Amino acid sequence: MPSTGGGAGFAGVPAFGGVGFWSHLDRRALFERGDVYRVGFDDERAARPPVRVAVLGAGGVAQSKYLPALAQLRTRWEPVELVAVSTLDARQGEKLAAIWGVPAYADSGALLRDRAPDAVIVTSSDDAHPELVLAALEAGAHVLVEKPIARSLDHAAGMTRAAEHADRVLLTTCNKRWSPPYAEARRLLDAGDVATPRLLAARFVLGYDYVDLLPSGTVHLFDLARHFLGDVKRLTAVAVHGAPQSLAVTLEFASGAVGTVLTSDAALSLHPWERVEIFGDGGWLAVDDQWTLTLHPAEYEPARVWAPVVPSTLLSAEEWGGWVGMLEAFLDAVRGGARPPADDGYRALELVVATQRSLDERTPVELPL
Ligand SMILES: NC(=O)c1ccc[n+]([C@@H]2O[C@H](COP(=O)([O-])OP(=O)(O)OC[C@H]3O[C@@H](n4cnc5c(N)ncnc54)[C@H](O)[C@@H]3O)[C@@H](O)[C@H]2O)c1
Repeated sequence: MPSTGGGAGFAGVPAFGGVGFWSHLDRRALFERGDVYRVGFDDERAARPPVRVAVLGAGGVAQSKYLPALAQLRTRWEPVELVAVSTLDARQGEKLAAIWGVPAYADSGALLRDRAPDAVIVTSSDDAHPELVLAALEAGAHVLVEKPIARSLDHAAGMTRAAEHADRVLLTTCNKRWSPPYAEARRLLDAGDVATPRLLAARFVLGYDYVDLLPSGTVHLFDLARHFLGDVKRLTAVAVHGAPQSLAVTLEFASGAVGTVLTSDAALSLHPWERVEIFGDGGWLAVDDQWTLTLHPAEYEPARVWAPVVPSTLLSAEEWGGWVGMLEAFLDAVRGGARPPADDGYRALELVVATQRSLDERTPVELPL
């Protein structure tokens, strides 16, 4: 069974009240149970309804994150079955079929017809997301699609409408939300430890330019901004002249809070490469590099810091990256549990599009677009 007890899994301080996300990962409890790899029989998990999943567009992120995360869930007795993958790359397909023991298709339509999966994970290149998501919804499957949901708001709106019409789950990847430090930050906000969030300060500095920073990297921070402070009503962006991938964005939230997002691929080895601070009445918190969470609860109280203290070899990269938690939430929604808003992916992309518009027109942009 997963740990639900309290204990001191991190940096010698009690896990938050013993009920938070990090206590779920409480290593001391795992050691005490003698099940550090979490392979012990989990009757509650094993009894869940089975879900048959296919991965459409199984390239880099599918092979390095999703397939290992699915395998990890199966190892923990989750009844999720991989039934097929698709890829346009024949050699990758052969390799995937050999490793995972499932058919690899070039034609995702044929996969959907032959294998009729309950759910699909779309991890193709961005431009193929709309076609694959719409085909999967039409075939009756629930969908988890990588971010950005699409490259245009029109496509994103069409996908969102199609999911609502088909009454199927549409979740756009927001893995950071389920990463332990961010999940715990959310819990602290809900518990009132940072009362009435007023200010967000976030930065993401990739340090290399292998992706299109704004839609591929910064979109994560836009999703987190909405996750923590809600909808944005106005946005203003400025960029370094001649270097559009170094920019500063100011956000005005519907709640009245404000925020900044700074993002750049200009400099290497900046530390932290990602930092999110949330300031409220009396207290504030910071998450550094998706790893350390610091809470400053009050002016004259010491800061409380949570960081993993167990050897990194015992931490699961898929879990720490949020992939395992996100897949669990997706499977729960597929089985009829809480359904995430279908338009979260659209809203994150909307902030990307608004940023580009603000840069192009040199004006603030009102939202929704
Ligand atoms: N969440 C994250 O942190 C994260 C990290 C990296 C990439 N991504 C996103 O994941 C997605 C995939 O990125 P990647 O780096 O794995 O790309 P990739 O190029 O390595 O893989 C894409 C795969 O999609 C396949 N494909 C493309 N069109 C297809 C179609 N019509 N039918 C079937 N297969 C098709 C390709 O053959 C390839 O196997 C992108 O949307 C990217 O933005 C997210």
